[in-house]
Amino acid sequence: MEVVNILHMNTGDGESSYASNSLLQETVIQKALPVLMHTIKGITNHDLFFSGDQCFKIADLGCSSSKNTLMVASSIMDIVIDMCKENNRKPPKFQVCLNDLFGNDFNTLFKMLPDFYAKRKKEKGENFGPCFVSAVPGSFYCRLFPEQSLHLVHSSYSVHWLSQVPKGLESNALNIYMAKTSPPNVFHAYGKQFKTDFTYFLQIRSEELVCEGRMVLTLVGRSVADPTSDDGCRLWELLAQSLLDMVKEGHVQESDIKSFNVPIYYPCEDGIRNVIQNEGSFFLESLTTFHVNWDPPDTDYINLNDSHEDSTHGENTAKMVRAFTEPLLTSHFGESIINELFEKYKKHVAKHLINNKTRFFNFVISLTKK
Ligand SMILES: C[S@@+](CC[C@H](N)C(=O)[O-])C[C@H]1O[C@@H](n2cnc3c(N)ncnc32)[C@H](O)[C@@H]1O
Repeated sequence: MEVVNILHMNTGDGESSYASNSLLQETVIQKALPVLMHTIKGITNHDLFFSGDQCFKIADLGCSSSKNTLMVASSIMDIVIDMCKENNRKPPKFQVCLNDLFGNDFNTLFKMLPDFYAKRKKEKGENFGPCFVSAVPGSFYCRLFPEQSLHLVHSSYSVHWLSQVPKGLESNALNIYMAKTSPPNVFHAYGKQFKTDFTYFLQIRSEELVCEGRMVLTLVGRSVADPTSDDGCRLWELLAQSLLDMVKEGHVQESDIKSFNVPIYYPCEDGIRNVIQNEGSFFLESLTTFHVNWDPPDTDYINLNDSHEDSTHGENTAKMVRAFTEPLLTSHFGESIINELFEKYKKHVAKHLINNKTRFFNFVISLTKK
């Protein structure tokens, strides 16, 4: 499976689209904002970034196609403008480069731009630093920008996607990710792929960033080294269970599950630190963690009191997972199974939520190019 040609989030702004089902990712962006603010504060007094008529160049990697994308761009520019004001500096011009894979629905993003530009002009008035938005299609596991051309790289909920499905997962049987029943070589293969990908990601970003350029990455991880902890694999085990239900009903071939594994890896803290240290191009300024419920508005885990299979928590989670997995699943299993698969998934998730405090465990890392 060529991940680079298949992977994208559900397009458009309909019921199953990523645009309509990305509240989790929006919540995560909001929670990571203090790190972004602190990172930008660290450079606003720097002549290298803000001298003369300098244009501040930002890249958002794995931007997808929802209002989250332009919310990130706005937040970054607002922070820079506020910091410039505080330091009696003229706000810079901005170049915002939105990157995602070739199948991303950039058109949905482009259609949001007229309102975005108008709103910024209205809100910022004369402080409005002119802003030029462009799209950069391609994999962030390749060079995307000229040498030393970026001041700030941001990426949220994207870098845990791998460049490819790891090799050597034949023994993963009916699992579709690392699972409690996976043999050791599966954990090894996933860990190795992450190490290779993240190392290369850092290397090429260090070529693209100016000296002392900054990078803020938010990604899903796990709180412990054990790759079978619920943090990492439960969501996928429930999806595998739903696929198996469909095997029993004759709608999915067992062999198709055996040949399907998701190109994602949720690392632990040491895994991240080791790659950054060994690759060597960046100082790790900070690494913070926080978690968000699978159904983000349910901050008090009232799902634990819900005892029926059709709970809204199950439904919300199923819609969110569908929005980011459907193109991958469709390319392997075909389109016809998707509605039924997520009906089953919704019920499995709802059942799981009755007894479990589910969460995505997240890392936000702030890096400075050496
Ligand atoms: C869950 S979405 C996050 C989107 C957005 N940052 C947000 O927070 O709403 C992950 C995005 O990463 C993109 N992605 C995954 N691997 C990528 C790669 N190698 N290069 C570029 N984008 C990638 C996917 O296509 C997807 O749009």
